[in-house]
Amino acid sequence: MHLAHRLLQDGQQVVGIDNMQATQGPSHGGLQRARLAVLSRHAGFRFAELDLADADSVDELFRSGGFTTVVHLAAQTGVRHPAEHLQRYIMSNLVGFANVLDSCRKHRVSHLVYASSSSIYGANRLMPFSEHHPADHPVSVYAATKRSDELLAHSFSHLYGLPTTGLRFFTVYGPWGRPDMAPMLFADAITQGRPIEVFNEGKMLRDFTYVDDVVESIVRIMRHPANPDPDFDAFHPDPATSHAPYRIYNVGNQQPVALIDFIETLEKELGRKAQMIFRPMQAGDVIATSADSSELAKATGWAPATPLAAGIARFADWYKSYHS
Ligand SMILES: NC(=O)c1ccc[n+]([C@@H]2O[C@H](COP(=O)([O-])OP(=O)(O)OC[C@H]3O[C@@H](n4cnc5c(N)ncnc54)[C@H](O)[C@@H]3O)[C@@H](O)[C@H]2O)c1
Repeated sequence: MHLAHRLLQDGQQVVGIDNMQATQGPSHGGLQRARLAVLSRHAGFRFAELDLADADSVDELFRSGGFTTVVHLAAQTGVRHPAEHLQRYIMSNLVGFANVLDSCRKHRVSHLVYASSSSIYGANRLMPFSEHHPADHPVSVYAATKRSDELLAHSFSHLYGLPTTGLRFFTVYGPWGRPDMAPMLFADAITQGRPIEVFNEGKMLRDFTYVDDVVESIVRIMRHPANPDPDFDAFHPDPATSHAPYRIYNVGNQQPVALIDFIETLEKELGRKAQMIFRPMQAGDVIATSADSSELAKATGWAPATPLAAGIARFADWYKSYHS
């Protein structure tokens, strides 16, 4: 939604795709419709409600769309979903992703930019996480699908010369954010006087990245299609680049914050104290995420840097106005 809004403000034509399946709790459907209503005010916006797992519909849309650039952000998200939702992850994140890749190939899209995730670093402990490190030990199904997407993208970049760029986002937050993520869950609980569950005593470190910084990164990367790396050494393959037009970048704030400090900042902005229930670490969660975004900075001259206090203040302002 934020990306589409920014592109429309820049005078671009945008076709948005979503299946509008509210999978993130009771408030998700309303939030999805409200985001869409904001975008629909722009003359340059067209919306297609379809499921990316439906290959024929995706292909039909690409046939009529004449797209130059595709930014693929749709996914079944969340690292904690239980096993009964496995099909959703497979259909959206693998089948849907493959359909997007194939339609980009068939309809000669000049650049596919897609969302990967910091969660693909999984069991890695060497920090900050770098795209140049191998990342082959996912600790959630979600992360495994995201890493698989990167590998699928590489095969299309190699076989068909399709420029693909994968962006590994680090814990994104901001206005209009997901109802299943900590900022929204915590804000709801704090304002309604309900206790919040804090895992691992809030000691988990997250590289919280403000959504406008993510949008700026995507916009800059869209203008910077992946190229083959002339220095790629097949005897010592760099996971971030290739002989094919394929690139991977971290998109993170590079200033990890403890969850407990995040909660305190939110309490201050909302003007209320949180009631906390401490719980042990959950399966699929990782202790810390910390980004090295220097490759993004090298490629685009820019990297996320919004301080947490400034980002949370903007989130809290939006939260209060949305809920009034
Ligand atoms: N928010 C974060 O912290 C974060 C971190 C790392 C990576 N990412 C990735 O960034 C992308 C955007 O994340 P977000 O937080 O904006 O998520 P979001 O849930 O707000 O947006 C994803 C959208 O994809 C749609 N969708 C899911 N499956 C679909 C399908 N089969 N067909 C059509 N639409 C479908 C959903 O309805 C949803 O509206 C995702 O790919 C996510 O995995 C997000």
